[in-house]
Parts: sequence; structure tokens; C-alpha cells
Amino acid sequence: MNAPWSSGRTPAGLREPFTAFVCDELTSATIKSVCTEMGWSSDKVHKGGLRNGVQALSVSASPQILFVDLSESGDPLNDINALAEVCEPGTIVIAAGEVNDVRLYRDLVASGIQDYLLKPFSADQFREAIAHAQAIMNAPKNTEAAQDRPHMSVGVIGSRGGVGASTVATSLAWLFGSKWTRSTALLDLDVHFGTGALCLDLEPGRGLTDAIENPGRIDGLFIERAMVRASENLSILSAEAPIHQPMLTDGSAYYQLQEELKATFETTVIDLPRSMIVQHPHLVHDVQAIAVVSELTLAGARDTIRILSWLKSNAPQTTVVMVVNRVGPAAMLEITQKDFESSIERKVDIVIPADQKTASQAAKLGKTLGEIAKSTKVGAGLTELAERLLATVEEAGDVDPKKKKANKPSLSSKLAGLKSFLPSKSKSKETAEPAV
Ligand SMILES: Nc1ncnc2c1ncn2[C@@H]1O[C@H](COP(=O)(O)OP(=O)(O)OP(=O)(O)O)[C@@H](O)[C@H]1O
Ligand SMILES: [Mg+2]
Repeated sequence: MNAPWSSGRTPAGLREPFTAFVCDELTSATIKSVCTEMGWSSDKVHKGGLRNGVQALSVSASPQILFVDLSESGDPLNDINALAEVCEPGTIVIAAGEVNDVRLYRDLVASGIQDYLLKPFSADQFREAIAHAQAIMNAPKNTEAAQDRPHMSVGVIGSRGGVGASTVATSLAWLFGSKWTRSTALLDLDVHFGTGALCLDLEPGRGLTDAIENPGRIDGLFIERAMVRASENLSILSAEAPIHQPMLTDGSAYYQLQEELKATFETTVIDLPRSMIVQHPHLVHDVQAIAVVSELTLAGARDTIRILSWLKSNAPQTTVVMVVNRVGPAAMLEITQKDFESSIERKVDIVIPADQKTASQAAKLGKTLGEIAKSTKVGAGLTELAERLLATVEEAGDVDPKKKKANKPSLSSKLAGLKSFLPSKSKSKETAEPAV
């Protein structure tokens, strides 16, 4: 269980693998049949339900997996909290009862139980609950792993709408979780229109909206419940907030979320819409590396210049990796990579080609582009980006913002230089100048 537990701790190896406290014969028989299959002693299936469980566990070591029957409990929530007082940390609790009420289920899960089975349940349902409990028990603990690998926080910002920033963010999160087996959180801060959950074929849930509305509730337990799990090493926190509801926040919720994610996961990937950095500049203060994603367009170059300049002032500690995405054949480009680079006054680090077919395939399958495009040039670009981010974060200790070159041309002079890519007005009167 993960609620406030008694402090004594019995080493996992000395604990019984399973103990049950049941209320009726049918439940007892179902559980005993599964115990036999698992090689567990059926003597550990006791009568007396939750109440007996609380008494027994107050004087004995907790098992690894505990089953409690709530049927005879007049106040299941209160009794579960009493169980929390006597149960040692790390025990996974499966409860069962006759009440089919989603609110009770949510409250029980919030109190730390792993699963709630509606009685009568079949041996298959029980087996499934046990398999899930074992998977959680055997999963590497984030906190243990975090000690080996320091936390890494990367942000992804698109220079313009639709350049593929969210595609890059979800792909990176997937790559860090699967290829590098780092426990990874994807924080999608496009609160109204985010696509992080959608592209992983998940419901976003209310986690992020709840966090923004009640920042005081954000703690480790909140994170555990609010994150939606996409795969073993990837969880996501996102929202599809109603579009008639502005997000009224001073940004403290985002800060606390970043802090909690840092404590719980090895990697945080933040999908950072441009509007968010305008409103909440502190979001980048604790981010080690940022991928700025653009397309090879005039507007993309203009806004890349502005974002790079903003980052230099607001996040001098952050390593910026420049990505151009959706790069089609030369004849289709609005501006060439060379012109883009000369206007932003730096090299592009990563080029990801346009691949409409693979992008559509990923969307249809509800998977990230990084996963579907594995063996394509797009996949190679995304993997190179992930490698680059990991490497820059590892080197981050050496990065001294003061070493950055002085006497760079001003932002306005760079923006003015962009006009040289435009056809002259005499040639094309219709072509609008970029608003600089
Ligand atoms: N390399 C690529 N080749 C082809 N299509 C791509 C590529 N990268 C992204 N896309 C597609 O571009 C579209 C926009 O991508 P995405 O939503 O990631 O952009 P965004 O920058 O996050 O947009 P927004 O400004 O709305 O947040 C999606 O349909 C995505 O599948
Ligand atoms: Mg997006």
C-alpha cells in the first residue's frame, strides 16, 4: 500500500508471498484454487475479512500481496485506513466487495489499494489481479533507479504551430522509456489542445487539470494516481481542458509538478507550447536541454530567432538543440537549410525529413512516430536527437553560461536580415513582408 504506513519494515524475502482474509466460502474456494496453481499455501487464506486482517497484521509481518474482503465492513474506507496503519510499506493490497460504486473504487485506490474486485469474481479475474500485482512488485523502483541515473529534464518548443513539436516530444519520451529504459514522464502543457495522450491512444484523464486547479494537492501520491501509464517506462500527464475554461494559474502548479516528476522519474519530457513560455517563463529554469523544432519557412526562421534569443536570456543554463522537421524535397522548401541557418546564426543540429506516410501510420495505430518510424530516416533523426539530448545533459555540468560568446548581433538586426530571403517588392507586390 502507498498510504501513511507503520514504520517497521520486514525484508521482502522474509515475507509471505500471499495472505488473504475472506468472508465467504465461494471466495475462499476461488482464491485457494489460484493459490494452489501459484504454489502458495492455502493455509494463508483466513476467514474474517478485513477486520480480522487488521488484527492479524498488527502482530505479524505483512505479506507481499494481501487480499482483503470488505463485504462485512460497514465503513470500508475507514477500515482500509486502519489497515494502512498496520500494514508494512511495499505490500500490494487487492480488495473485494459487493458494492459496485465507482466513487468507492476511486476512494479505495486513492487510499492505496491496488485493485478492487466486485464479488462474486472468477478465478480468471483473480489471476489477472495477481499477475498485475506481481508485475508492479517486480518492476524496477523509480527511486532506486533514480539514484543510479540522475534526473534529466528536457523541453520541446515549436517555433510555429504545427511544426511537429508534440510529435517530437512524444517520440522522445517513448525513446527514453523504451530504448534507454529510463522511467519517463511526458508532461503535455498544451492544456486545452494537447495531443500527447491522443497520439498514444490514451484518455488524458483529469490529472493535469486537477493539479492546475488545486496545486496544494500535488505530491508523490497525487502524481502516482494522476499519471496515465502508456507503457512500462512511460507515463503521461496531460489534459483536454474544456475550451470555454481558461486556465487561471500563477504557474505554481507547473513548478510543483516539475519538482514531483523529478523526484519520481528519471526523465521528464515537457511539451512546451510557445504561449506557455510567454506566460510562465520559469518553466524553463530547471530544464537542462531544450529542443527547438521548426520548419524551413520564413516565419519559422523569424520565430526561431526570437525563441533562441528568449532562451538565451531566460534559460542561459539550458543547452539548445536545433531541430528542423518535416523537411521535404529541396524544390518544395520555402527557404533552404543554408538560408535558415544563416538567419538564425547557428547550425541546425538535427534534420528530420517529412514522411507523411509513416506519420499517418503512427496516428492510425495510436503510437508515437518514434516507435513506428524506427527503421526510417525519420526514426534515425529522432534517435539522434534523443542521443544528443542525453549527451548534452551528461555534459551539462561543464556548461558555463558566462563562457557564451559576447558581442552577438542584436535580435532586431537578425530579424531584419530575414528580409533578404523575400522576393523584392517590385517583383511580387502580393508577397507580404514578415511582421518584424
Ligand atoms: N516528420 C514528419 N513528417 C510528416 N508529418 C509529420 C512529421 N512530424 C510531424 N508530422 C505531422 O504534423 C502534424 C502536426 O504535428 P504536431 O501536432 O506534433 O505539431 P505541433 O507543433 O505540436 O502542433 P501544435 O502547434 O498544434 O501544438 C501531425 O499530423 C504530425 O503527424
Ligand atoms: Mg503540439
